[in-house]
Amino acid sequence: MSPTDNGNSKVLVAPSLLSADFMRLSDELQAIEAAGADLLHLDIMDGHFVPNITFGPGLVKAIRKATKLPLDVHLMIDNPELYIPRFIDAGADFLTVHYEASTHLHRNIYAIKNLNVKAGISLNPHSPISFLEEVLGDADLVLLMSVNPGFGGQTFIDRTVDKIRAVRNIIDDKKYACRIEVDGGINAETGRRCAEAGVDILVAGNYIFYSSDYRAAIESLRK
Ligand code: DX5
Ligand code: ZN
Repeated sequence: MSPTDNGNSKVLVAPSLLSADFMRLSDELQAIEAAGADLLHLDIMDGHFVPNITFGPGLVKAIRKATKLPLDVHLMIDNPELYIPRFIDAGADFLTVHYEASTHLHRNIYAIKNLNVKAGISLNPHSPISFLEEVLGDADLVLLMSVNPGFGGQTFIDRTVDKIRAVRNIIDDKKYACRIEVDGGINAETGRRCAEAGVDILVAGNYIFYSSDYRAAIESLRK
């Protein structure tokens, strides 16, 4: 996985564990790894930044022991700076904070990078990509939300395709080593449109975990 992977190579697929059967988490982790996932997307929600609560660093640490997949940890929490060290200690390979939750975004990016973890910035659907201008060169990942964060199984917001294309152009133009990831409402059709627009990583929850064949679902996103 080179830092400059883009439209010329296949997209990477990051199943979102939020849609897995939590009563069978160990089996689900094995199955998704065997099905060819590239990364494992972990959604951390605090019931404050988003209207849902999921899990914390303790479970991330347990998951770290149960899979070889790189852990792509998406913090949908207020005051993310308070938890960056704990999620890194738990085993995050990518750690993403929201622009909207970060008073000191540049500081948060370097708090992550200085602990040798890839730093991501996420934008909610309402946030314009101009918010990235001063920090895109510092980030390893931009996570564009294609739904309002908080829940799996929502409908893809179409305008996200234009946002991906615009960020792709800036990254290519400036030769930044930053990947683009999209999250929310991804299926074979919306995934294809995002890939055409230049996305590097597709996150998908319901589309993969509610399918009867995880491998086929993942492969359909790579087409
Ligand atoms: C939503 C989360 C997503 C979610 C995606 O707030 O950030 O990662 O799990 O789920 P689907 O793919 O079902 O929209
Ligand atoms: Zn997510």
